[in-house]
Amino acid sequence: MKVLALNGSFRKNGNTEILLKQALMGAESEGAAVEMLRLTDYKIEPCRGCGLCLFRENVCQVQDDDVNFIFSKVDGCEGMILGTPCYFLELTAVVKQLIDRCWILGHKIGKIKKPATVIIPYATRGWIPYVSVQSNILLNLMGLTKINEITVCTQGISEVVLDEEAMDLAYGLGKEIAVAIKEKDFAYKGATGICPSCHDWLVRILKDHETVECPTCGVRGKLSIINGKISVQFEENAWADSRFRPDVQYNHFTYHIAPSKDYFLRTKEERKIKTQKYKEYLTK
Ligand SMILES: Cc1cc2nc3c(=O)[nH]c(=O)nc-3n(C[C@H](O)[C@H](O)[C@H](O)COP(=O)(O)O)c2cc1C
Repeated sequence: MKVLALNGSFRKNGNTEILLKQALMGAESEGAAVEMLRLTDYKIEPCRGCGLCLFRENVCQVQDDDVNFIFSKVDGCEGMILGTPCYFLELTAVVKQLIDRCWILGHKIGKIKKPATVIIPYATRGWIPYVSVQSNILLNLMGLTKINEITVCTQGISEVVLDEEAMDLAYGLGKEIAVAIKEKDFAYKGATGICPSCHDWLVRILKDHETVECPTCGVRGKLSIINGKISVQFEENAWADSRFRPDVQYNHFTYHIAPSKDYFLRTKEERKIKTQKYKEYLTK
């Protein structure tokens, strides 16, 4: 049983790294073999948007970076812990760079069944609105099932060691993922948020002023105020509409992305003519 930690912080022995290592110690106590990759130690090129990987399995224009190595490590583990500090309300750029490279994993959708958990250190309460969203995107694209998430308020380098409660929480999170692997129980164990699919608290208000949508999953519900409290009612099986469910992704790929290839090929000559003036513009 292997548990892999992906570390999205540049800081060596910073808060993310310490919390991840603490979690890995917890996983080890349940018999897991553990490994941590600090993403900033690897070369992660931006996605070139060529789209080759969408149509041909494992084909990518980028040949000379470490993304395939990182993905092979994810392939080789039974459970994953993602750690990322919050940078300007979001996760760090190196994690986003990895997210953009995840298209190549599209052919594996629905084939992977592994639990994952997330650790997010941050410094200012309330200044982390998008990190859960973005980490959910990464885990979903990797085909992993999030079973828990913790956010830890801590600022200076390695200061988190002074926060015993946070350290215990991280240790417990590591134990939990190892137990989840052993018992094949991938049910969500964290605090229940608003979205029935990703459990996040963020919702987008739609223009009818009553429907709300989870921006990550696309799941929709009705907003109301009950006894002075904001509430969202989702249909019982609303989670089934999540854009990250394997069958929804399969349909997206089959009926939206795959047919776009024919249009692209059909319009080649017309595009060539119409793009000429943009090619020539601002070249000197
Ligand atoms: C460039 C930068 C941007 C940051 N932006 C935020 C932020 O938007 N919200 C927040 O709560 N903390 C922010 N922080 C603080 C870090 O999230 C916090 O210090 C965290 O504990 C760092 O973890 P690390 O030691 O693993 O890198 C920022 C830190 C840096 C360096």
